[in-house]
Amino acid sequence: MQEADANSTLIVQITDCHIEGEPDKLMLGVDTRATMMSVIEQIKDSPRPDIMIVTGDVAGEGEPAAYDFAQTAVDQMADDIRWLPGNHDDTAALSQRFAQDDFFSQVVDGWVIVGMNSSVDGEVDGYIDPLQLAQLQRVCEANLDKALIIFLHHPPMPIGCQWIDPQHIANGLALIDIAHKHKAQNLKPAVICTGHVHQALDTTVMGVRILCCPSTGFQFKPGEEKFKLDDKMPGYREIRLNADSTMATTVHRIPQQDLNIDFSSDGYE
Ligand SMILES: [Fe+2]
Repeated sequence: MQEADANSTLIVQITDCHIEGEPDKLMLGVDTRATMMSVIEQIKDSPRPDIMIVTGDVAGEGEPAAYDFAQTAVDQMADDIRWLPGNHDDTAALSQRFAQDDFFSQVVDGWVIVGMNSSVDGEVDGYIDPLQLAQLQRVCEANLDKALIIFLHHPPMPIGCQWIDPQHIANGLALIDIAHKHKAQNLKPAVICTGHVHQALDTTVMGVRILCCPSTGFQFKPGEEKFKLDDKMPGYREIRLNADSTMATTVHRIPQQDLNIDFSSDGYE
């Protein structure tokens, strides 16, 4: 991390926890409750974030017991805790439990932070409804002097994993275009932070920085044509937003250990 300025905002993103309803049930061999807790413990040993954002697939299949577990795990971790749905979540249950709308925006020194819902009930693939895109447009117009950072579950474009790429946000280019235009107007960073792909990524599309975050459970191997698990450790992303609209970000992972990953599996539900 770069040296933080006095008025900076520290965000921690965790994602794709895939907590099962039954405590003993493993996901692809992995005890996702245990790995999530290892990630949480590591965050607790680091500077306390101002904002924690969970970018979806909290539950394996929207089970209430999974949300109970995740809520307790993340409780008190930050002043603001935001929950965004993924394709494995029950969007209505998640938004009701965490009092979270599809769309939120929050202004801090130098930045406007936006959260969006890219999930569609019953679908794996991502899509952003036009209402949210219009909300984003309005937030950008009201914050012309601010850098922009958006959090949501699905990536807005293919990332080079052929099996997962069809699931990217179908109208992701419309999202990137709004961010691109905001950046073109004020020459400050525009950033989109996602989950869903279970791997770290840091790339740029049309001048917009795209950051993907590892899962707190199990990882997908980058660049693969077919489903393939990676032996990389679970982790989280730390993002420091400075008041001068600069930023710094680091992916942190738990220490190397045997997670009992079932590398023979060729997919998951
Ligand atoms: Fe997902």
